[in-house]
Amino acid sequence: MIMNQTIVVTGGAGFIGSNFVNTWVALGLGKVITLDKLTYAGNMENLAQIASHPQHVFIQADIGDREAVRELLRVHQPTAVLNFAAESHVDRSIYGPDAFVQTNVVGTFNLLEEVRAYWQALPDAAQAAFRFLHVSTDEVYGTLSADAPAFTETHPYQPNSPYSASKAASDHLVRAYFHTYGLPTLTTNCSNNYGPYHFPEKLIPLVIHNALAGKALPIYGNGSHVRDWLYVEDHCHAIRAVLARGNVGETYNIGGCNEKTNLEVVHTLCDILDEAKPKAVGSYRDQITFVKDRPGHDQRYAIDASKIAGELGWTPTETFESGIRKTVHWYLNHADWVDNVTSGEYQHWLQKNYSARQAGAV
Ligand code: NAD
Ligand code: DAU
Repeated sequence: MIMNQTIVVTGGAGFIGSNFVNTWVALGLGKVITLDKLTYAGNMENLAQIASHPQHVFIQADIGDREAVRELLRVHQPTAVLNFAAESHVDRSIYGPDAFVQTNVVGTFNLLEEVRAYWQALPDAAQAAFRFLHVSTDEVYGTLSADAPAFTETHPYQPNSPYSASKAASDHLVRAYFHTYGLPTLTTNCSNNYGPYHFPEKLIPLVIHNALAGKALPIYGNGSHVRDWLYVEDHCHAIRAVLARGNVGETYNIGGCNEKTNLEVVHTLCDILDEAKPKAVGSYRDQITFVKDRPGHDQRYAIDASKIAGELGWTPTETFESGIRKTVHWYLNHADWVDNVTSGEYQHWLQKNYSARQAGAV
């Protein structure tokens, strides 16, 4: 168990970061400094439950802002920095890769440089105890055919989108800082997350939101693409395990053993909504619309999580069936949160991404 640490969490106002920070504070594990730029994906409402908690400090800044990061490290003297901050949406990376290179590559580099300088100036014992944990994705490994074995940590990097290429570059930088400078790094490569505070540009919250609004449920291509879904709290638990007991310089794959086609996921969501909030006529499945595919769409991701299970004793607690039910009910109970995040910039994004995708493209 990790106790009484002061940690910095970058990207802590986003989906996974906010779940991580909220749970860290709720478990009483120590002080958290959240560093977040508050892009369209960052939202202070995600941190509302700890807004005035004495163990939480929020700082709005870019991970690439060297002076801001330097000052934060000087003032708060953390024992670990966890880097969740990223541009995270594959479709946005296709329309505008610049921000992905800027934050995920250049931003991570600048963060690493400041963390290295801070770490090198620590006394020996504090240096040995310090950790830089980099949160990454299974997408760096590329795509799998239907019968290929799941990704292990030694699978070659073969990123196919600007998003995954930028995450792969950041992973390589982290690796280099361990091997070259001895910075005590840990890297996690996780599969698709779902759960509370998931921004409704991503498949699961988008489908819930559109279903309830009576809009089309857009499925790219033929819906046969496979993702390995993990409930976000299980991901956060895995990160805490890696931070506490992971071997420095190593990478850990994290996944849910829940491979589903996109069509299966959308059918499940429709069926839960049919039960929880039935339509006057028909099923939510009637709103499913097949649209033009994502360029370079990876066919299948699957994680072999045997290393983290064997070395650190982590396994997921939620099944897909239990986690997806919780998730749908969270969205049904948080209509205000959804209304707030889907106003403004979100509408421009929908227009850009979906107007060009003609219905019936398959
Ligand atoms: P998200 O888009 O919901 O949140 C990203 C957060 O980072 C936002 O709060 C945003 O404001 C902040 N941010 C963006 N650029 C920044 C910058 N330059 N400086 C400081 N803050 C900045 O993303 P997420 O889904 O929570 O993903 C978090 C991390 O986990 C990312 O690194 C992502 O690559 C990785 N990951 C995500 C998933 C998933 O399914 N969502 C799976 C595996 C790994
Ligand atoms: O695998 C981990 C990755 O999972 C993370 O690194 C990314 O940050 C995260 O966004 C997620 O990437 P995906 O591209 O897999 O997630 P997304 O929710 O965008 O899409 C999931 C699948 O659903 C994918 O095959 C594309 C498809 N899709 C998506 C949208 C938004 C649709 O069919 N229709 C849609 O409207």
